[in-house]
Amino acid sequence: MKNILVVGSAGQIGSELVLTLREIYGGDKVVAGIRKTKPSKKLTETGPCEVVDALDTKALVEVVDKYKIDVIINMAAILSGTGEKNPMLAWDVNMNGLINILELARERKMKQVLVPSSIAVFGPTTPVDDTPQETILKPTTIYGVTKVAGELLGDYYVKRYGMDVRGLRYPGIISHETLPGGGTTDYAVAIYYEAIKNKKYTCFVNENTRLPMMYMPDCLKATVDLMEADFSKLNYHCDYNVGAMSFTVAEMAESIKKHIPEFEIDYEPDFRQAIADSWPNSVDDSAARNDWGWKPDFDLDAMTADMLKAIGEKHAKGLI
Ligand code: SER
Repeated sequence: MKNILVVGSAGQIGSELVLTLREIYGGDKVVAGIRKTKPSKKLTETGPCEVVDALDTKALVEVVDKYKIDVIINMAAILSGTGEKNPMLAWDVNMNGLINILELARERKMKQVLVPSSIAVFGPTTPVDDTPQETILKPTTIYGVTKVAGELLGDYYVKRYGMDVRGLRYPGIISHETLPGGGTTDYAVAIYYEAIKNKKYTCFVNENTRLPMMYMPDCLKATVDLMEADFSKLNYHCDYNVGAMSFTVAEMAESIKKHIPEFEIDYEPDFRQAIADSWPNSVDDSAARNDWGWKPDFDLDAMTADMLKAIGEKHAKGLI
């Protein structure tokens, strides 16, 4: 059995990953680490919640010892948009938080550390279509810089200390449980909320912006499958490309119009356009498919139907 700590459990991925892991391993085996945000009832009612800040090593050690944690998943990060507004904060949280966790895992001889990465590791000189697993990593955002360094650092701990550190390069993640915060791909979530609430959306990137995206059920599956994969079969460790779908904003709008014909969209690109333009259109994830059997389930229309249904229900209940 393993005792898992998810750092960053109040975030978009963390909040749902904790619940999925509790279903698999048992509620008391998965500690939700939250920083300041008040945890949701779903988190507090299904297992332990503790205040954990990756930058506060003392508090981190206390929680690790209290629950005999032997697996840490680090979901705490400052994303691309917020990172550009406060580069030093992004460096501090993304790098110092990560090294604290890796060092603690090394000292405590933990079984596994999961260090998520992102398509933000790529940059304007990376091939844009079917971006290969092994390619140019010259990002132009501080978030991307920390993610490249994080991949290298995780791989270093594997090689130098024989540890089990793993990670995957998430594309934009789309979900309806917890809103993303401060990322460039946030428009792909906001568009669905606005379609339900106001039947119109003003997008902060232009209509032709195409990025790799993934629906949350696939994100959870990819994360759990990578954690469960046989370590000896992994040809990579902290940098697996994982793809699911790739579409422009205009294609999203068309997909929404199949359900809400009166939906309108306009465009007011801001500083995040340049970030989106520096990232790939789609990724080649054959290494993940070959090494640990990765295969996504959702395409754009299946996701749109699901998102509009879930957000529509929230709206009907007056929750949004
Ligand atoms: N969703 C992230 C962002 O937009 C990318 O990993 O910053």
